[in-house]
Amino acid sequence: MNRRKLGKSGIEVSAIGLGCMGMSEFYGPSDDRESIALIKKAFDLSITFFDTADMYGVGHNEIIVGQALRDLPRDKIVVATKFGNMRRVDGANLGVNGRPEYVKAACDMSLKRLGLDHIDLYYQHRVDPDVPIEETVGAMAELVKEGKVRFLGLSEAGSATIRRAHKVHPITALQTEFSLWTRDPENGIFATTRELGIAFVAYSPLGRGFLTGSFKDKNQFAPKDFRSVNPRMSGDNFDANRKLVDRVEEVAAREKVTAAQAALAWVLSQGEDIIPIPGTRHEKYLRDNIAASELRLRPEVLRSLGDILPPGSAAGTRYDETGMRRVGI
Ligand SMILES: NC(=O)c1ccc[n+]([C@@H]2O[C@H](COP(=O)([O-])OP(=O)(O)OC[C@H]3O[C@@H](n4cnc5c(N)ncnc54)[C@H](OP(=O)(O)O)[C@@H]3O)[C@@H](O)[C@H]2O)c1
Repeated sequence: MNRRKLGKSGIEVSAIGLGCMGMSEFYGPSDDRESIALIKKAFDLSITFFDTADMYGVGHNEIIVGQALRDLPRDKIVVATKFGNMRRVDGANLGVNGRPEYVKAACDMSLKRLGLDHIDLYYQHRVDPDVPIEETVGAMAELVKEGKVRFLGLSEAGSATIRRAHKVHPITALQTEFSLWTRDPENGIFATTRELGIAFVAYSPLGRGFLTGSFKDKNQFAPKDFRSVNPRMSGDNFDANRKLVDRVEEVAAREKVTAAQAALAWVLSQGEDIIPIPGTRHEKYLRDNIAASELRLRPEVLRSLGDILPPGSAAGTRYDETGMRRVGI
């Protein structure tokens, strides 16, 4: 698979990574043994970039990612995890925490769960509006000095915060939602990350599965599936967005690729600095996504995909009100 530079870190990762979140939570049931096997399969198929977070499954995701990775050559994989979204053991959300002492404790817990002596890329999952970013990133920089972390990242931070953080310690990657139906980073964030040489890691590049065309019925999600209450995938918004995805499927069918592959190829085509991390629990999807990383759709096809969903065209916000208050800070 093609590789892409991870910002100015000096290292490269596979052009697409593997998002492991859905193996623990948010998108319905999963099977640990299958998840671990799939992570190893991803490496066999040339994926080297694995994404998790301490909050996915309240630690469960880091544990299974760690179990899979311990059988892989450590120097050939890049492990990214995140801290900052605090949760109680029963899963209740306790808000965002960017206090230095919390950063240190969270990192130690993640290392323990992952079974690693260092994390390659450590992100602040959400910016804490009550703690100056300099203090949070200052603590993260100490983790680098201590050898517990190699590179630093932010997730869903706004441009001013990225600039302030980058002055304290180089920020290697920004992980933020970007896909055919979430075009927000085009509005200034890409300009900032590109100016500073920061990689852009695109999460939910398949619109949490919606852009693949797999969802035909808004009532198909299990009650605990995050998507059952997501504003874009419920009520009338589901139907409006479904019509847009029908058109993505039409373009994809003409090119003899799947809608998922077209959506992924479009994200990859938006810049060499962009590394999408699609999530899956299925080998077939994994293989399709890897094949998409090699696809070269013609410029007019890519343009027509982008024209179906110009910025702001998706119906509904990408998170509920609480979630929306936590992005772009
Ligand atoms: N920083 C943040 O705040 C943040 C937020 C959300 C996610 N993330 C990270 O980003 C990663 C990816 O995002 P995501 O998982 O939310 O969304 P996504 O990658 O846009 O979509 C995942 C969904 O698409 C399905 N899928 C994947 N490939 C497919 C294919 N080729 N054909 C048909 N369906 C396909 C998956 O199905 P199956 O699972 O059933 O295979 C799953 O339901 C996560 O795993 C997580 O690591 C970060």
